[in-house]
Amino acid sequence: MEEKNILGYESVRLDDENNQLIILDQTRLPYETKFLYLKTLKEIWTAIYLLQVRGAPAIGIAAAMGIYLEAKGMDVKDYDEFYKKFKEAKEYLASARPTAVNLFWALDRMERVVKDNRDKPVQQIKKLLHDEAVAIKEEDIWVCKTIGEYGLSLLEPGMGILTHCNAGQIATAKYGTALAPIYLGQEKGYKFKVFVDETRPLLQGARLTAYELLAAGVDVTLICDNMASLVMRNGWVQAVFVGCDRVAANGDVANKIGTSVVAILAKRYGIPFYVCAPTSTIDMKCPTGDDIHIEERKAEEVTEMWYKQRMAPEGVKVYNPAFDITDNDLVTAIITEYGIARAPYSESLKEIFNKKAAAQRKDK
Ligand code: MRU
Repeated sequence: MEEKNILGYESVRLDDENNQLIILDQTRLPYETKFLYLKTLKEIWTAIYLLQVRGAPAIGIAAAMGIYLEAKGMDVKDYDEFYKKFKEAKEYLASARPTAVNLFWALDRMERVVKDNRDKPVQQIKKLLHDEAVAIKEEDIWVCKTIGEYGLSLLEPGMGILTHCNAGQIATAKYGTALAPIYLGQEKGYKFKVFVDETRPLLQGARLTAYELLAAGVDVTLICDNMASLVMRNGWVQAVFVGCDRVAANGDVANKIGTSVVAILAKRYGIPFYVCAPTSTIDMKCPTGDDIHIEERKAEEVTEMWYKQRMAPEGVKVYNPAFDITDNDLVTAIITEYGIARAPYSESLKEIFNKKAAAQRKDK
């Protein structure tokens, strides 16, 4: 399978020969295309924590590959000792960021491999862990492409689309989630006009989404987050597409801070608000958005980053949540790789997982 994205590289890659994880450092974009070569668990934890690798699917892939590399380096033959060390490493990586469920989903999938094969020699379990980590990445390519196809079926050529944060190629193995329909439409000559929220405070929209879409030749206009209302009022937006970090069983959505503001505006202006969610991002064990842990980050991201000089008075209190919750009644549809779910989500999301289970049974 071709794993390079349209920018010509892989944003997360396992380098078996050198026992390392190679990631594109997303904090350097758009100025510099720099790759990081990570060998230790601490380095991988730090890369996730600092958002050098970011976006729910990419975090999951990096964690799966990271825990495999750690397991590979464990000098133990006894299963119980191996499993104990594996669990410690898993818990450590899981502590890097709390909101994107893909981190926990990928690590749980890796743990299942260890538990289901306890009767096998540790060396063989390590090989199975390798294959699982590689499969998680390969599946993501299919998942995102399929989400892109479903998303595109909701769009017409020439439409204006608004997106928030970055749910693009670099946030996944390839294609992205919310940007996948735009890329597929671009290939077909749909000529979308895409409005990109800059996405304060870390500017994923300005730095990453604008960069990716421009590279693909898409018509992109960058706006500050507080300009979305006017752009919608002007009639320039026919659909909103966003990604997500966790969808609760009732369809409430956690995504980058500011997403819920866009959803509220979209409702006001009668614009459909679509959430692109791989099933790996849907957490059926989480009943509602109130049960999702919202990450809070350092004040400096708000007061200092991107400014030549600190721009807020010393000592001011800062609240810096990285995500917010969009209530399910603001969501027009949730687009997954197993189809498009609509309200009531407590029913339609179950149906999506039934379809997934049926497809997996058929593949066996
Ligand atoms: O803090 P970030 O940049 O990791 O937040 C990312 C998002 O909010 C994305 O929209 C989400 O992870 C989907 S990526 C396909």
